[in-house]
Amino acid sequence: MRNFRGIVAEMMQQQVPAPAQGMGETPIQRIRKIDGKLTGLKALVTGASRGIGREIAMALAEEGADVAINYNRSDDDADTLAMSIEVMGKNTWVYPADISDYGKVQAMKTSLAKYLGPIDILVNNAGINVDKLFSKMQPEDWNKVLAINLIGVFNCTRIFLEDLLASKHGRIINITSIVGQMGNIGQVNYAASKAGIIGMTKALAKELASKSVTVNAIAPGFIETSMLAGVPEKIRERIIEQIPMKRFGQPSEVAKAVVFLASGDASYITGHVLNVNGGQYL
Ligand SMILES: NC(=O)c1ccc[n+]([C@@H]2O[C@H](COP(=O)([O-])OP(=O)(O)OC[C@H]3O[C@@H](n4cnc5c(N)ncnc54)[C@H](OP(=O)(O)O)[C@@H]3O)[C@@H](O)[C@H]2O)c1
Repeated sequence: MRNFRGIVAEMMQQQVPAPAQGMGETPIQRIRKIDGKLTGLKALVTGASRGIGREIAMALAEEGADVAINYNRSDDDADTLAMSIEVMGKNTWVYPADISDYGKVQAMKTSLAKYLGPIDILVNNAGINVDKLFSKMQPEDWNKVLAINLIGVFNCTRIFLEDLLASKHGRIINITSIVGQMGNIGQVNYAASKAGIIGMTKALAKELASKSVTVNAIAPGFIETSMLAGVPEKIRERIIEQIPMKRFGQPSEVAKAVVFLASGDASYITGHVLNVNGGQYL
């Protein structure tokens, strides 16, 4: 559990001079006045230290939400993100917790409730891949991916359900993948975990539809993050050939879809899987 308020206050004093008289506002003062689509709401983004999760956390804060940052190991990245959010004038809380561990997620909820309050929006984004051909896949490769990608989504959703049910604007947004929809060589474990998220999204959407909580998934295609950085150049080229837009997606393009589903604009959408994949045929 880490708190940055002191550091950020200091940073802002150093970096943001008061406007000279008659010179108007600084950019940060202007940003703070923005009345976003999510002002007054609190969100938790899992796996927010890097990649897509980081962009989601930033985009939610830019729309006015207070944002709690979960991650596993990247302390420095999470700290930097928290500072960026604080600079926007939004509250944030940073909590490292392995989401595959039910007890750790419970401890995160207790801490969040104390320091940020109950959440309205849960973005289940954290995920990993351990790619290899099925013939070489070991039980630990299967178990690890399922534990984080699918059981982790269960843990966070189950533990924060109480908050979401109490909210007048409950939103669950699960990040699945095009691989969960179409399969992919070397990713049987990953595809199973992401397909599981789609089934879970649809079933839970039905259970919660009458309780003001929407449950949706976003299925990104191939997005430029460290997850894709490990793919050899030859295979990257082959993937791009299959994408009608002939490019990989950017994390910010996924984040914009999350903001839409989190906002009041998506109030009548639930149980939906929104593809953000550059037009790939499924
Ligand atoms: N990139 C793509 O092409 C793509 C496509 C479709 C779907 N997705 C999905 O989008 C999500 C984000 O992917 P990404 O590409 O942004 O990945 P990434 O850059 O590798 O970042 C993964 C994030 O998940 C966190 N994480 C990993 N294991 C965790 C655990 N046990 N508990 C809590 N947090 C954990 C990491 O935290 P640390 O930094 O502390 O390790 C990091 O913040 C994943 O669910 C992924 O499956 C990605």
